Amino acid sequence: MLLHLDASARRNSFSREIGDTFAAAWRAARPAAAYVHRDLAADPPPPIGEAWTELCDYVLEHQITDPARYAEAVRTPEHAEAWAVVEPLLAELVAAETVLIAAPMYNFSVPAALKAWIDQVTFPRMSLAGKKFVVAYARGGAYGPGKPREPFDHHERYLRDFFAGHFAVEDAVFVGSEMVNALVDPALAGRRDEHERSRAAALEAARSIGGGR
Ligand SMILES: Cc1cc2nc3c(=O)[nH]c(=O)nc-3n(C[C@H](O)[C@H](O)[C@H](O)COP(=O)(O)O)c2cc1C
Repeated sequence: MLLHLDASARRNSFSREIGDTFAAAWRAARPAAAYVHRDLAADPPPPIGEAWTELCDYVLEHQITDPARYAEAVRTPEHAEAWAVVEPLLAELVAAETVLIAAPMYNFSVPAALKAWIDQVTFPRMSLAGKKFVVAYARGGAYGPGKPREPFDHHERYLRDFFAGHFAVEDAVFVGSEMVNALVDPALAGRRDEHERSRAAALEAARSIGGGR
């Protein structure tokens, strides 16, 4: 199953375009496989509340690491309400073989709706090792090696650390388009080619990785 998450606030979005390209290639290569699409921008998960923290403390205290047993932590109506939000999100994540996250850079990091999803589905000592994680990203500027803004990248770097530290996934793949702001900021108009090149390379990579095995 492919779980495809979108997180851009806009429809005419480069992260959506790259993610859609990956998903189309993945599905074409696996016509019988299931596909679940969730638009976190259109339907954002709520921020976690106190009851969620009590579920989390319980599974940690009782050393529960199998998501199939997390429901044992539900002991009050407030816990049941919190679990009702987590359960469908987590079930999709656990069922997925590949997780595609289309994520723009917002304020050097990930959109709040994606962070809310992460907070809802992440429990202590989880392991999702063996699943493939792919991030389709778009950024207004350029954050690659040697760029002046490289140290400000709390987007790819955050997601890589998060996947490794909380999901035990070390080999997430990132494909994306940079310098999107060159299309709207007159001061960056001279860098439109840079954006076009990175977009074309990202679409090609998304097609090729999505269609691969
Ligand atoms: C709320 C917001 C914050 C943004 N912050 C940054 C930023 O910190 N750095 C950056 O390079 N671009 C930033 N951008 C530009 C977006 O990353 C860029 O427009 C990107 O293409 C958005 O992804 P999308 O095309 O999938 O919507 C921001 C855009 C928005 C709407």
